[in-house]
Amino acid sequence: MSADTPTLDTVRAWLWAARRIAVLTGAGVSAESGVPTFRDAQTGLWARFRPEELATEAAFRRDPGRVWAWYAERRARLQGVQPNAGHHALAAFEQRHPGRMTLITQNVDGLHQGAGSRGVLCLHGDLFENRWLDVPRDCCRIDDACVGHPPYCDRCGNLVRPGVVWFGEPLPYAALDAAQRAARACEVMLVVGTSGQVQPAGGLARLARQAGARVVVVNPEPTELDAVAHAILAGPAARLVPELLDF
Ligand code: OAD
Repeated sequence: MSADTPTLDTVRAWLWAARRIAVLTGAGVSAESGVPTFRDAQTGLWARFRPEELATEAAFRRDPGRVWAWYAERRARLQGVQPNAGHHALAAFEQRHPGRMTLITQNVDGLHQGAGSRGVLCLHGDLFENRWLDVPRDCCRIDDACVGHPPYCDRCGNLVRPGVVWFGEPLPYAALDAAQRAARACEVMLVVGTSGQVQPAGGLARLARQAGARVVVVNPEPTELDAVAHAILAGPAARLVPELLDF
């Protein structure tokens, strides 16, 4: 490490002094809870499955049963999975410092919420929510959808799909807008456990830097966003995030 590389203590001092902090998380924050990431060369979901066959609207329309089953399995695997020390540290910080931190996540696993974080900006939706594939008509009532794989409206045949954002789809406008405002307003942005490869989420770090924030990457591996960072803390989120936010 070179002499002028900011240390964990330096980053902690930045955080301590910051009135506004934004945190952008990705799959790595849940890795220590046992949830696979997407791009790990061995265990990543996209190393084992083809996203264009499972995570696009076209894939769902082509083979709704297969896509529904894949998401149902991901939901089942998350049953009983617990938030780890990284999720808990973020939730506890938010409770100790109301209004100071905005938590933005690309994760759909609900673990931030499970740890007690409120107002999480979920850029990629929620794995445990359902919505209609096509614009719902009067007959489409999600709670009364007929049981099926996927469930469907027995009047018009509309299909229920998971409430996640698929490749090629726009992000939920309100969440993205709030995330961009938080990125522009923060003094420090922590980028935790994301490869930074997916846009527009990864672009939030650039936006924060352009607006004058210090950007800190927390990740055991190099990422696309290292070039944007003022500090890179190489290590696992469940150890480093509690150390950074313990005040
Ligand atoms: P990736 O799988 O692309 O990246 C996960 C990152 O977590 C990598 O940089 C790892 O080095 C890092 N990592 C692994 N273990 C870690 C740990 N213990 N602590 C901290 N970091 C760790 O996942 P994302 O960046 O979240 O989108 O992927 C972004 C989006 O691509 C996802 O939201 C998903 C995917 O396609 C949609 O499904 C729309």
